[in-house]
Amino acid sequence: MSTPISTETRSVDEVFHAAVALDHRPDPYPYWAALRGRPVAERADGGWVAAGHAEITQLLHDPRVSAVRTAPGQAWRPERVGPDGRPVPAPFLRQDPPGHDRLRAVVVDQLVPRVAGMRGHIEELVAGRLDAVAARRDGRIDVVADLAYPLPVAVICELLGIPDADESRFRELARRTTRGLDPIETLRPSEQAEIEQAGRELRGYLTEVVTRHRERPGDDMLSAIIASGELAVAELFVTLGLLLIAGHETTVNLIANGALALLRHPGQLDRLRADPEYAAPLVEEVLRFDPPVQMSARTTVGDIGIGRARIPAGSRVTLLLAAGNRDPRRFADPDVFDPLRPGNAHLGFGGGIHYCVGAALARLEAQVALTELARRIDGARLLADPPPYRDNAVLRGPSAVPVAFDAIR
Ligand code: HEM
Repeated sequence: MSTPISTETRSVDEVFHAAVALDHRPDPYPYWAALRGRPVAERADGGWVAAGHAEITQLLHDPRVSAVRTAPGQAWRPERVGPDGRPVPAPFLRQDPPGHDRLRAVVVDQLVPRVAGMRGHIEELVAGRLDAVAARRDGRIDVVADLAYPLPVAVICELLGIPDADESRFRELARRTTRGLDPIETLRPSEQAEIEQAGRELRGYLTEVVTRHRERPGDDMLSAIIASGELAVAELFVTLGLLLIAGHETTVNLIANGALALLRHPGQLDRLRADPEYAAPLVEEVLRFDPPVQMSARTTVGDIGIGRARIPAGSRVTLLLAAGNRDPRRFADPDVFDPLRPGNAHLGFGGGIHYCVGAALARLEAQVALTELARRIDGARLLADPPPYRDNAVLRGPSAVPVAFDAIR
């Protein structure tokens, strides 16, 4: 590239578009770095981007910053209706208090105690996946297809009491609907229509699942949430959709990005093999260095002064979590992958009242998956670097991580 990437020489919009362009999906970080040149900046359409760690943190904790999407192109459109013809509420990720807090509390009550006892079961699931790879005897693993995707799907389905047989149905629906999280400018009109259609199909599927659980409750989390009587029917299937999608479209990227980091830093792989305790700081560093959720969006409901900028009420603000994670004002040598860095206050799970409810589960799955990969596979080498990436700019991760190895235990 002849012109250095900088918001001195290019507009904020140009740099942002470059960051989310599919060609740059393997390495958007130089563009995020350029946007950090102005930690809070206005875009041509009146929207704003926040790229500094301190600025993003301030906005995540400010009650004048709403999670409800009301700005152009980002609206949770009220005309969205459920299969019963009634308006669909936004998932609590896109609600403010008090509605957000009520729904979140019901989920936290059910999720947290269940996750606490899951390590043994997750170890069994990972062992089963790696046994299947060993049985193929071809010296190859695709970390995404063989482990990173099936593990979180199996875990979230079990938690929610959804049969494995449904996986093929919602896999595509989840992939198609999550494209809707991407910045509107990266989507063609045909893709936008397609996302709406996928959303309708997903809502139909989720309604079926809720009906099944009502008729035949099990000892799963969804049955317990239904039994609590805290959620209206429409809230139930929207919350179920949020958990199902958040529960597997993100963790896949954490495991895949972690495997990539290990394969690119063989010293880290050796260290993890020698010391399973190393998995905890390692996963935190993956969440900082290469976060599965690159950005989130908010709308201001009051005027906000931040640094020298003043963001007016009613503005759409994009919080570039991935840019904040490499802010040199917060992290020494931010482009170095260093699991032992002190004070790793990354933004990988967001912050404030919307901090990820699945954080403990995602950490556990990734720690177990990466430890077992390191422990069982010898002589691993990446067959494609960079690997191919999925379309999504927000939930960013490789579509495959093909690896050859010498031996698997
Ligand atoms: C590596 C895996 C994961 C990552 C990186 C991740 C990341 C995030 C981030 C950044 C947010 C905040 C979004 C915002 O503020 O706009 C969030 C919220 C959320 N996540 Fe996760 N997540 C992961 C896994 C999970 C899992 C496994 C579940 C469910 C079991 C889950 C459920 C949720 C929910 C329900 C919210 C909304 C919380 C709220 O609004 O209060 N996530 N996640």
